Amino acid sequence: MTDKVQELVSKCLQARDMAYCPYSRFPVGAAILTADGAIISGCNVENASYGLTVCAERTAIQRAVVEGHKQFTAIAVTCDIKDRFVGPCGACRQVLMEFGSDWTVYLIKPDGSYKKTSLNELLPLAFSSADVMKKN
Ligand code: THU
Repeated sequence: MTDKVQELVSKCLQARDMAYCPYSRFPVGAAILTADGAIISGCNVENASYGLTVCAERTAIQRAVVEGHKQFTAIAVTCDIKDRFVGPCGACRQVLMEFGSDWTVYLIKPDGSYKKTSLNELLPLAFSSADVMKKN
């Protein structure tokens, strides 16, 4: 694991510890690596009106955009499940796709071990901005 990936994993695990999830008690952490080497993290933020909950991945994306980043190379995602690797929900996959299909996705277990995959693999034949803008 490179130092940068190690840092991404650490930031993702730290973000999970900040989750606001009194309803599900299912904390999730995410950390995004930007093209210029910055790391922006996020956690899930739930709401008493359950449908207003925002996932960790989307919290991280929104933070990143506010901070001026729109080019991303990788995201790490973690939760408390120890015995298998857990992927981002479908809605988050689509939101990540907004910023390109060429992302590395690291699925992180609580002990820091990881499985490396890609957004293309997680969301094949995706609908994207190219379709809306009618580009080839
Ligand atoms: N959650 C995420 O933060 N990311 C995902 O990709 C899946 C689900 C959150 C939403 C909710 O707060 C909790 O996990 C249980 O669904």
